[in-house]
Amino acid sequence: MERTMVLIKPDAVQRSLSGEIIHRLEQRGLKLCALKMLWVSKDLAQKHYEVHKGKPFYEGLVDYITSSPLIALVIEGPGAVKAVRQTAGSTNPLESAPGSIRHDFGLTMGRNLIHASDSVENAEIEINLWFKREEIITWDRDVDQWVFKNN
Ligand code: RTP
Ligand code: MG
Repeated sequence: MERTMVLIKPDAVQRSLSGEIIHRLEQRGLKLCALKMLWVSKDLAQKHYEVHKGKPFYEGLVDYITSSPLIALVIEGPGAVKAVRQTAGSTNPLESAPGSIRHDFGLTMGRNLIHASDSVENAEIEINLWFKREEIITWDRDVDQWVFKNN
């Protein structure tokens, strides 16, 4: 089953939107496999956003993500990467689809509430960067037959 990684960013945690965001992912039918709250080190933040190094927003992005605690999750489901990106919405909340998290709770790219891996390949890299193997739970959810099944 496909996995992806989500960060409930510091602004969402500060605004008490963590439960709402998890609720939306669960409501979609996605399954939680790992969850932890942490105050990210500069080192981890820089590694996570390495692809953006050198861009004008990079330093501010690292400051934002390390400014306050966040919640990291591993999420599983068919097409989990695409599904979570959809539920998160476009990077710029002003261009996000109504009903998406970034649209419904955000206004600026600098405070866009959630991170979601952008490919299966990057999801695997990010999961390995943020989680130890034993922190990820492989489990069957009884309702999966009513949520995941393709006839
Ligand atoms: P994320 O990685 O956080 O899930 O967001 P994303 O894929 O939708 O967007 P990405 O291009 O990877 O950018 C990472 C984060 O950097 C901030 N950003 N600011 N022009 C800007 O000011 C700008 N562009 C990007 C956002 O917080 C974005 O989520
Ligand atoms: Mg990204």
